[in-house]
Amino acid sequence: MTINAIGAPERSEGAVYFIFGATGDLARRKLFPALYSMYREGKLAENFAVVGLARRGRTNEQFRTDLYNSIQEFARHKADGDDNWVAFASHFHYMSLDINHVDEFVKLRNLADQLDDQFKTDGNRLFYLALAPELFGNVSFNLKSGGLLDSRQGWNRLVIEKPFGYDLASAQQLNDQIRQVFREEEVYRIDHYLGKEMVQNIEVVRFANAFFEPLWNNKYIANLQITLSETVGVEERGGYYDHSGALRDMGQNHMLQMVTMMAMEPPSRLHPEDIRDEKVKVLRSLRAYKSDEDVQQNVVRGQYSSGTHKGKSVPGYRDEDAVPDDSHTETYFAARVYVDNFRWAGVPFYVRTGKRLPAKTTEVVVEFKNMPDNIYFAQKTQLEPNLLVFRVSPNEGIYLKMNAKRPGSQWSIVPIAMDFSQSAEVGINTPEAYERLLYDASRGDHTYFTRWDEVALAWKFVDRIEQAWKSQENELYMYPAGTWGPVAAQQLLERDGYRWWPVNGQREAEVVEMSSVKDAAPIK
Ligand code: BG6
Repeated sequence: MTINAIGAPERSEGAVYFIFGATGDLARRKLFPALYSMYREGKLAENFAVVGLARRGRTNEQFRTDLYNSIQEFARHKADGDDNWVAFASHFHYMSLDINHVDEFVKLRNLADQLDDQFKTDGNRLFYLALAPELFGNVSFNLKSGGLLDSRQGWNRLVIEKPFGYDLASAQQLNDQIRQVFREEEVYRIDHYLGKEMVQNIEVVRFANAFFEPLWNNKYIANLQITLSETVGVEERGGYYDHSGALRDMGQNHMLQMVTMMAMEPPSRLHPEDIRDEKVKVLRSLRAYKSDEDVQQNVVRGQYSSGTHKGKSVPGYRDEDAVPDDSHTETYFAARVYVDNFRWAGVPFYVRTGKRLPAKTTEVVVEFKNMPDNIYFAQKTQLEPNLLVFRVSPNEGIYLKMNAKRPGSQWSIVPIAMDFSQSAEVGINTPEAYERLLYDASRGDHTYFTRWDEVALAWKFVDRIEQAWKSQENELYMYPAGTWGPVAAQQLLERDGYRWWPVNGQREAEVVEMSSVKDAAPIK
């Protein structure tokens, strides 16, 4: 077996995968396609079996047809024309199960033992709970009572989805329930942003390039800006969303994880626990807001009113299904966050996320400090700061904005762009986040899963904001759908002398592509 740098095998370990919620959207759109891609790309060990579990009655044959349809619709590789399809599908089994009945888990155990013998999976079991979090505790408990964790050999792993709690107290309770059954190292908490190619690339770009790491601190960096913008509204998730809001839905997890990736120190080893230790240190260094006024000064929240998307009118948040007419839930927030450690003292991290914004984009902009005012250049031109931009989605890439002489002119300076587009370079068929994460869990690599102490610290930070918001109902700004959120979010930066840099697709017109600089007509 080939082992990679962190000691995990290159191929999944043989195992039985138990997919709870097998008739749901996540399984159909992400998990089955992920397993199939792993198989097609030789990353899935041959000794595997999958058990789909849900309440609905389904035969193995029906389940395999559902599997085929999900792959045809959502997978990167299609199943038609695959000569091995029947053999692949024969690893998939279905069992209808009521998660409240322990005797049904006993039946599941019998099936597990049988599949273990048939497919020689060495007693390894991976339980993927694509279920509402309030069910995690009960399912864990019944897995234990039903004897599923007593296999004679092999490992047990539990993979769970967000939201992991509603606040620190509920997350703690949920964690306690799970930990009565599973050890921390057996738990894989998914934050799918950590499975994104470019989020993983942040570490590499930072730590493998001599010209970034020495500048990665408060001496050279003016501020960082993280944007997670979406064009969709809350769609059919109004019930869940109104209880959650943008801060819990995106801030506590994806956003703070991106902050940690940008701010963390280089780990001493590329070992999952060393990396996660460094991320925890960042979360510990987040400056807690001291008072409600402090929150008001540093965090802006908004809610979309009716507006337009792609030229069509769209309703406001309060008119969405399952949302109360007087809802004060935020669909947008922006914040100024400080990481109070030696490296980052005084550098603002501006973060923003929202629904019904003009573009679907995930981007991180690092704005470098200006060069000292140079009288020589300043006579003719205003220097723009250098920017390093990580484009996470929809297009993956890295963009660097620099200053150069305008060809043919005497001392006129133009911003130029060096743009590396990952999709153009390595093909758009890069693995999806879920594919990476399922693959990592199947090999026992925890690096891109969140550890309990990360989750707890992130909740602690978020709870302080939520607490202030409870007493400040009026501080919710409305923004028309299809705009970049409340004006107050721009003022958050303007007060510090900065502005939000335009995100993907809205580059400033004056930036010249590096490749075209030579050809530009001389300016008289
Ligand atoms: C989920 C949130 O975690 O992330 C959703 O619950 C959001 O509200 C989604 O739409 C965004 O993910 P992505 O990968 O499309 O940016």
